Amino acid sequence: MARKSPLFTAKSPAISPSFFAIFLMSLLSLTSPAVSGHDYADALHKSILFFEGQRSGELPPDQRVRWRGDSALHDGATAGVDLTGGYYDAGDNVKFGFPMAFTATLLSWSVIDFGRSMGGEVRNAVRAVRWAAEYLLKATATPGVVYVQVGDPYSDHNCWRGPRTWTRSGPFTKSIGPPPGSDVAGETAAALAAASIVFRSRDPAFSHLLLDRAVKVFEFADKHRGAYSASLSHAVCPFYCDVNGYQDELLWGAAWLHKASRRARVQRIHQEHWMHFRPKEEEEEEDDSTVCWSKMDGCPPWWVPTARIGSHYELEISQAHREVLMGKADDLKSFQNNADDFICSILPGISHPQVQYSPGGLIFKAGGSNMQHVTSLSFLLLAYSNYLSHSNHIVPCGDRSASPALLKRLAKRQVDYILGDNPMRMSYMVGYGERYPQRIHHRGSSLPSVRAHPAHIGCKAGSRYYLSPNPNPNVLVGAVVGGPNSSDSFPDSRPFFQESEPTTYINAPLVGLLGYFSAHP
Ligand SMILES: *[C@@H]1O[C@H](CO)[C@@H](O)[C@H](O)[C@H]1NC(C)=O
Repeated sequence: MARKSPLFTAKSPAISPSFFAIFLMSLLSLTSPAVSGHDYADALHKSILFFEGQRSGELPPDQRVRWRGDSALHDGATAGVDLTGGYYDAGDNVKFGFPMAFTATLLSWSVIDFGRSMGGEVRNAVRAVRWAAEYLLKATATPGVVYVQVGDPYSDHNCWRGPRTWTRSGPFTKSIGPPPGSDVAGETAAALAAASIVFRSRDPAFSHLLLDRAVKVFEFADKHRGAYSASLSHAVCPFYCDVNGYQDELLWGAAWLHKASRRARVQRIHQEHWMHFRPKEEEEEEDDSTVCWSKMDGCPPWWVPTARIGSHYELEISQAHREVLMGKADDLKSFQNNADDFICSILPGISHPQVQYSPGGLIFKAGGSNMQHVTSLSFLLLAYSNYLSHSNHIVPCGDRSASPALLKRLAKRQVDYILGDNPMRMSYMVGYGERYPQRIHHRGSSLPSVRAHPAHIGCKAGSRYYLSPNPNPNVLVGAVVGGPNSSDSFPDSRPFFQESEPTTYINAPLVGLLGYFSAHP
């Protein structure tokens, strides 16, 4: 297995001729007539289709991504439980509970806020939520246990082999109380609660099941406080290691429970957590949530990652702000300033240590797999813009102010960059537009499908597909990759996993964005 390339940093790039060339190109692209509008409906369709390519377990007859087959059909069997189904997080074959829950929450939020704009695609988006929700129900079916991971990331990442009908030898990583896992359990409670809203009128029985489970999982998380990264670090770190503590996930879970239910018990949970959560300025650490992403070799010790799953904290304060703006929660007003400050900090032209823009105009945060930040921050801008419109507000930012229209334009600019308005003149969504990534870091996409090559491909036998200069044989339509580096440059090469690997949490918020822009181009 080739070693991965050195990680790039997001420190200010050295001024080089190519920097000027790219800068000039981006200026030209601003002054020349706008590239004719994008087909947001097509992109929406594809962004949802992607989730079918990430499915684990037995595929249903209506599966549309036909090059994929059943996989991992015995997950959980050795522990006497059924853990089949769910999504692979990215280009590997592990099921990580943390990102799966986050994905389910953001997909749900996309449907809740923008489903009305999605036309017929809303049915597919709801199906994508259900696929995750059904798995999360299985992972939480045993009281006092949350299965947080299926598969061994070290051995999985060591092989270049695709999702097939193999039987895993395990392990099943579970969080029981104690050892605690408030972070992943809080995240899971959020996902179950958010999904319960999606199904409230579509499938009331399923919705009730989800909400009841959300409350139980939340109470488990709350009662046995502690970080799963501490007790299960050997299994979950450095992959989805939550090193900042679990308070933000508890708050996130409480916020979604609050939104999903007006039951007194849920309301009490919610109140307690708002009261105990310390707003950002009191945090000692600049960045309160860190995630280490190294997929192939484990995290190098010198790498202090600053990526976070989908800019988690900001999503939480946005939820809080929404409640305040909609006049539903006066006691949450303290969050409004935090939310406003955050929105101001991501406006272009305001120098902020956490959020920068590439010369070509892409939001850039340090840490790798940058597109997750682009889509989740853009989702926030759009959701926030809607909340502001409904409550007739603007955000004051010093001598500037951010109107709902401005926030929408910023979000749209990011989406347009992803779809092709960028210095590379390519779409970062596979299968959309004329030029898109051909060699994504994705085992199923890069290896021959079971149909094309029924014989077993051993662990190391896959390496030649990994190293091949050829395009991937199976086009994973709708996959959005980690994206260009901070100089807008994209290598389109499998070993550059930070740039070329797609993930479910890049696409989940994008579904909402594309839903909105497909109806409001
Ligand atoms: C981005 O990639 C290009 C091409 O590989 C390289 O020349 C440039 O130095 C990279 N930029 C950064 C900031 O790493």
